[in-house]
Amino acid sequence: SGLHTAAVAKGKLYFGSATDNSELTDTAYLTQLNNTDDFGQITPGNSQKWDTIEPTQNQFSYTKGDVIANLAKANDQKLRCHTLVWHSQLPSWVSSGTWTNATLIAAMKNHITNVVTHYKGDCYAWDVVNEALNEDGSYRDSIFYQTIGPAYIPIAFAAAAAADPDVKLYYNDYNIESSGSKAMAAQNIVKLVQSYGAKIDGVGLQAHFIVGSTPSQSSQASVLSAYAALGVEIAYTELDIRMTLPSTDALLAQQKTDYTNTVAACVAEKSCIGITIWDWTDKYSWVPNTFSGQGAACPWDENYAKKPAYTGILSAL
Ligand code: XIL
Repeated sequence: SGLHTAAVAKGKLYFGSATDNSELTDTAYLTQLNNTDDFGQITPGNSQKWDTIEPTQNQFSYTKGDVIANLAKANDQKLRCHTLVWHSQLPSWVSSGTWTNATLIAAMKNHITNVVTHYKGDCYAWDVVNEALNEDGSYRDSIFYQTIGPAYIPIAFAAAAAADPDVKLYYNDYNIESSGSKAMAAQNIVKLVQSYGAKIDGVGLQAHFIVGSTPSQSSQASVLSAYAALGVEIAYTELDIRMTLPSTDALLAQQKTDYTNTVAACVAEKSCIGITIWDWTDKYSWVPNTFSGQGAACPWDENYAKKPAYTGILSAL
């Protein structure tokens, strides 16, 4: 069987992939993305971000996001919706606006209410707040934190829940997949939202890992159980494992081990409900554009051949 079929057989809800609008014109790419034996879920890599959806205040543009949502519907794949409140890919009217506490809360709530209402019924989950933390566990100094303080987080979750009481609401971040200050701070975000009486359903572990320094299965397992103990589910939301190029057989073998251990950690934790890779082919991975000299992070190569990592993932499922 493929990855999604095997994940479901292990009691998970899905195995899935990120995708992006520009990739869908590539018919060989689309054929594999549509293969529900491997992918029971998709995530728009960019087209639901604030700069795409609300480039001008209170003017909403859903065309690109709807293409991905409609694809998920046509394929009967779950959709993870990504993301409502993030410091990056913000339109300048938000990031460089002149705000007071009250006006930014109003603008943020208006964004969340419109977007969540538009996609009501389409999303399995929303990444409500993305990457609110620094590596040391302090709050990232975003426009939201500067203007509103930490309360922007529970306010965002409450607004999302009011617009769609049924969608799962997630806090999503990277480097929170093993224990440390940042993972502890992510647990504190769950408690903060809960302490405001707002709903939070899940923690999303981005899992943008590096070959050879991916956290071990046991260190991932212990942090997964710490999140689960707070009463929330967990998902791996953006898994990829990059290497310094060029790839070698040894690096590809280590990558297989790192993917296997990560997927095994999710399989072993009942509250870990699914795994999403941040696109399935090296051809369209975000890694080379962001981390100079690095790449080959996906389970399929740029010619759409399965890499050892694919077999490793399947063996863990
Ligand atoms: C990335 C996209 O994949 C790129 O195409 C874009 O240029 C930048 O953003 N964490 C996230 C994702 O939550 O939204 C990011 O996606 C990758 C890091």
